[in-house]
Amino acid sequence: MKQHLTNAIAAIGLTAMLSACGGDDIATTPPEPIPAGADGATIYQARCASCHGEDLRGTDKGPSQLSIVYEPNHHGDNTYRTAIRNGVAQHHWGFGNMPAVQDITDEQIELVIAYIRAQQEALGFER
Ligand code: HEC
Repeated sequence: MKQHLTNAIAAIGLTAMLSACGGDDIATTPPEPIPAGADGATIYQARCASCHGEDLRGTDKGPSQLSIVYEPNHHGDNTYRTAIRNGVAQHHWGFGNMPAVQDITDEQIELVIAYIRAQQEALGFER
């Protein structure tokens, strides 16, 4: 019985520790509001560039959006919508999870996807 209690206390301690250093300050710090009438490029810079790179080529916090794995037949627009709304558990890379993007409207999601698709087309995919 005593052993169980110790385990329970240890588990609580661990959970508290994990949530304290969970690294999700992006999700807990409210982001700067996106300016009204912002175009896809502005929305991308405000909400995606910190991880996916100002030039879409990735950072140490997120993968390049020009990676061939993001070409439309492999990651369609619905994957984008879901990733932005719900976040993504790490599965393709070793950057960690993508948190749900805060404070973005459905219309802004469509604008940012259109921007990324246009950039992918203009710059080409990395192979
Ligand atoms: C806090 C960092 C961060 C931000 C901000 C961020 N992402 Fe991500 N994103 C990631 C990481 C990390 C992954 C890779 C997850 C994996 O597959 O391992 C990812 C993956 C993705 C994927 C692939 C989803 C899948 O199912 O494989 C898409 C699409 C995406 N991001 C789009 C966006 C868009 C668009 C924005 C801005 C509106 C954005 N991300 C903002 C970190 C971020």
